[in-house]
Amino acid sequence: MTHSNIIVEKTPDAASAAAARLCKEIVTEAVHQRGLCHLALAGGTTPRITYMHLADHVTTDQVPWSKVEVFFGDERDVPQDDVESNYAMAQRTLLDHMPIDWSRVHAMRADAGDLDAASWEYERIIRDIVGNDSKHIPQFDMIMLGLGGDGHAASLFPNCPSLEEAHRLVVSCHIPILGRNRMTFTFPLINAARNVLFLITGDDKAAVVKRVFQDHDQSLPAARISPPHGTINIVLDAAAARLL
Ligand code: 6PG
Repeated sequence: MTHSNIIVEKTPDAASAAAARLCKEIVTEAVHQRGLCHLALAGGTTPRITYMHLADHVTTDQVPWSKVEVFFGDERDVPQDDVESNYAMAQRTLLDHMPIDWSRVHAMRADAGDLDAASWEYERIIRDIVGNDSKHIPQFDMIMLGLGGDGHAASLFPNCPSLEEAHRLVVSCHIPILGRNRMTFTFPLINAARNVLFLITGDDKAAVVKRVFQDHDQSLPAARISPPHGTINIVLDAAAARLL
């Protein structure tokens, strides 16, 4: 049974700060319970303010960041130093400002020549670090996600074959609407998580937020994210929550 936790804050900054607080709680709890935290960061633009909030308080927080294994839920087919790279965005806004153990930061090589091989390699890294129990899918402590206007999350876009992947943890896919390739976590991996954290802000997301989280419109990829043994945390600003 998926537990849901919806947090609505007045402004994008307040929602981002709330997401940062929730992230710190989950990281601290995971390290306290299991000695490590397995975290997957979201891409796009929305998480930037949350990452800056996390980076702002690193000297005052008692968060065991050096015990966090950092992964990425999806990546664009660009070099790691490209302005479009999710890794570059997270490095600029968060990782460069944290007492992180860089050997525990695992970038997706979505700019590799053979994206399928790179996807298998990333899956191997996840199984090596997060867990390789053949009976269970590796369980992240938290997977952070945004929500696209078309209902995509990570790089699970509508009408893509990756939506039907039932076994692999990471796949590459061509996204026709973008004319680009992506690498992404799959539903099996996302839905195995202890915590999923959606951060969604802006009036332009209000309609898709309603369709995903209130109507549960299964034609939208994000509506298929529902970790049966975890919690789905949805952090919104008032504008994105306007139609709920
Ligand atoms: C990406 C993200 C993607 C993002 C949504 C929302 O690589 O773009 O993983 O899933 O979260 O597209 O993007 P914004 O936060 O920019 O609205």
